[in-house]
Amino acid sequence: MNVTHVVGARPNFMKAAPVLRALSKHGTVPQRLVHTGQHYDATMSDRFFEQLELPRPDANLGVGSGSHAVQTAEIMTRLETELIDHRPSALVVYGDVNSTMAAAIVGAKLHIPIAHVEAGLRSFDRTMPEEINRIVTDRLASLFFTTSADADENLVREGIDHARIHRVGNVMIDSLVKSLPAANADAILAGVGLAPGDRFILVTLHRPSSVDDPELLNALVSTLGVIARECPVVFPVHLRTRARLKTGPGSISRLHLLDPVGYFEFLGLERAATLVITDSGGVQEETTFLGVPCLTVRDNTERPVTITHGTNTLVGRDPATLLAAAKRSLNAPPPERRVPELWDGHAAERIAAVLTHYAETGP
Ligand code: UD1
Ligand code: UDP
Repeated sequence: MNVTHVVGARPNFMKAAPVLRALSKHGTVPQRLVHTGQHYDATMSDRFFEQLELPRPDANLGVGSGSHAVQTAEIMTRLETELIDHRPSALVVYGDVNSTMAAAIVGAKLHIPIAHVEAGLRSFDRTMPEEINRIVTDRLASLFFTTSADADENLVREGIDHARIHRVGNVMIDSLVKSLPAANADAILAGVGLAPGDRFILVTLHRPSSVDDPELLNALVSTLGVIARECPVVFPVHLRTRARLKTGPGSISRLHLLDPVGYFEFLGLERAATLVITDSGGVQEETTFLGVPCLTVRDNTERPVTITHGTNTLVGRDPATLLAAAKRSLNAPPPERRVPELWDGHAAERIAAVLTHYAETGP
């Protein structure tokens, strides 16, 4: 048995790193790491390889940006050659990005069993590109590693055999737990005139549903400017959002627009923030683990456990509602920290145990 892991975009790196590490501790399964190149700027990719101690990819397919069809097709074309040349006995894919779905399609057509890490999450919103990626990947996968009971239920409802579903917990939290001792945002905070212990709001926005409509994006950024009058806002801007904002990094009064920051720096910001405003999937989970209040600027979430068991509140995309919710949250007592079951820093070890067993006995 040999395993190929496919990664491509920023959130894949945090998810794959602990799985590669745990599998290499087992020592019996040769591994290959393929980077599709979906994210390629150093601030979206290389830096995470260093901080997460990911091995250098064995192959980088260099696909870059493009429309959904172009990017997916490029990944499929280039990955097919890679998989034919190296013939892994299993393909491990992560999360819900285009690289995940493209790899699942290519692997399935080459009869390579697919293991999906973070399977079963559903927003039930097919206007979201990630929802299409999740549904297609889970139709094609053979092994399902899930983070929460709702994901198991979604898979069973879609006809997946219970025996193939392994609730292992959350690999994103494995990386967080390992990296927290190195988390540090002091330099970033000092750069915007904030001292350790000062109150501030951390913001990330990159979903097409928030940033692709210029009118909505402008309204959201103006609202953040209003919120910043109450509490400074630190906003590391995703490159998709940067391309649409058409401005470089800089501050407008107390609204600080930065370049994307490294993982250790981002965790430092998350841990120290009074409030987080986001549309990111991973950030909803990390704030739940850290017990930091989170307002999610979306109409739905595929991670309901962050609401039922965590600190997340869906506020939708209406700027006035966001403003009211932010004001309310800034004046509320801190929420209770409740960590979902199995989000304990050991999910990848459980995945490695299943994969090793599978290598010995077959599916
Ligand atoms: C992708 C994922 C999304 C995930 C996000 C994590 C899909 C469909 N979307 O969205 O689920 O939440 O990554 O960050 O897979 N760009 C650069 N340099 C880079 C990467 C991106 O400049 O290294 C800019 C380009 O203008 C590009 C745009 O960002 O067109 C979008 O990149 P893309 O990978 O298509 O999607 P994301 O919005 O990053
Ligand atoms: N993150 C980071 N720097 C940033 C913004 C986010 O390191 O400037 C990390 C964050 O801690 C989390 C991951 O990126 O681990 C989330 O990725 P993203 O929001 O891009 O994708 P999503 O989770 O929405 O798919």
